[in-house]
Amino acid sequence: MGRAVTIALVGTGNRGHAYSRFVERYPDRARIVAVADPRTERRDLLARRFEVGPDRRFSDWWELAARGRVADAVVIATPDHDHVAPARRFAELGYHILLEKPIAPTRAECVEVVDAVEKAGVILAVCHVLRYTAYTDAVRRYVAEDRLGQLVGVNHLEPVGWWHFAHSYVRGNWRRLDASGPTILTKCCHDLDWLRYVVGRAAVSVSSHGGLHHFTPANRPAGAADRCLDCAVEPDCPYSATRLYLGCLGDERRERWPLSIVTLDATEQGVRQALRDGPYGRCVYACDNDVVDHQVVRIDFEGGVTATLTMSAFTPLGHRRTQIMGTRGWC
Ligand SMILES: NC(=O)c1ccc[n+]([C@@H]2O[C@H](COP(=O)([O-])OP(=O)(O)OC[C@H]3O[C@@H](n4cnc5c(N)ncnc54)[C@H](O)[C@@H]3O)[C@@H](O)[C@H]2O)c1
Repeated sequence: MGRAVTIALVGTGNRGHAYSRFVERYPDRARIVAVADPRTERRDLLARRFEVGPDRRFSDWWELAARGRVADAVVIATPDHDHVAPARRFAELGYHILLEKPIAPTRAECVEVVDAVEKAGVILAVCHVLRYTAYTDAVRRYVAEDRLGQLVGVNHLEPVGWWHFAHSYVRGNWRRLDASGPTILTKCCHDLDWLRYVVGRAAVSVSSHGGLHHFTPANRPAGAADRCLDCAVEPDCPYSATRLYLGCLGDERRERWPLSIVTLDATEQGVRQALRDGPYGRCVYACDNDVVDHQVVRIDFEGGVTATLTMSAFTPLGHRRTQIMGTRGWC
């Protein structure tokens, strides 16, 4: 086996941490040699784990880029609106790129990234993680080999889950169109990519309907306060932040997600402080969210194959569920 790939990690939030765990597991394959993030506490925590010295810790991606090429590849795990400029610049510098989805909020910007990468002759991989699973390989093979007969239709459900939706799309980073994008892009780019990949044909038309049904001031219960910590009706509310986040304490998996997004201080006092001061303690009926909480997409593929995708907040959080219908069977 050759030497480990050296990596510069840009954005040490939730996803940056997820990729760092891979490096931890496979130190012979990859090594983190530089990190960039303005949230210095989170950045330094990660940097120390990988013995990245202070001279290789940066407060912004462009400070890192100013050093030229210091690694084989860069992982870009910044917020949705901050993908294009670093992707373009790191491509110019000759870095191979692992870019978080979505590539960019607009088509023109996506094209810009692809042009920059092609011009530089570097590798670009987008983190459409669903594609790279044994499950997807099996489903795609089934379809490609006509094991179900001729493919006719696909029903696909993305059950985001009520508390996950409240966490990410009402109180969290993906709640607003202007700050991140529509849910069809920020959440369902995975599903649209997956459907296209599994069906193996080009889409000829796409239509979509959705709405923000529930998380609006009109549905705010009488007597509700702006923050769950002050709220008289909180014990009765399914979306209580107090219950959700205090309930993560002591559970290693839930402390890692979603709690570490809310605070790095995994104590009762730390959680209460974050709910007092931060976005995650807000009443779900008194946030500044505007993205849809339920959406249906219809895709017509070449050859008359149809697919529907439903994304909904109003489910338990679970894995995507897909039904595939062919002329000789279904799965
Ligand atoms: N592939 C997936 O399944 C998946 C899942 C969740 C999120 N994402 C995507 O990953 C990206 C990151 O999401 P996240 O959940 O980690 O968010 P996050 O907020 O936890 O992390 C983003 C980090 O980027 C940092 N950052 C902001 N500006 C920066 C800059 N100029 N230079 C360097 N760092 C900067 C922030 O301080 C933050 O720490 C988003 O585009 C998101 O849509 C992908």
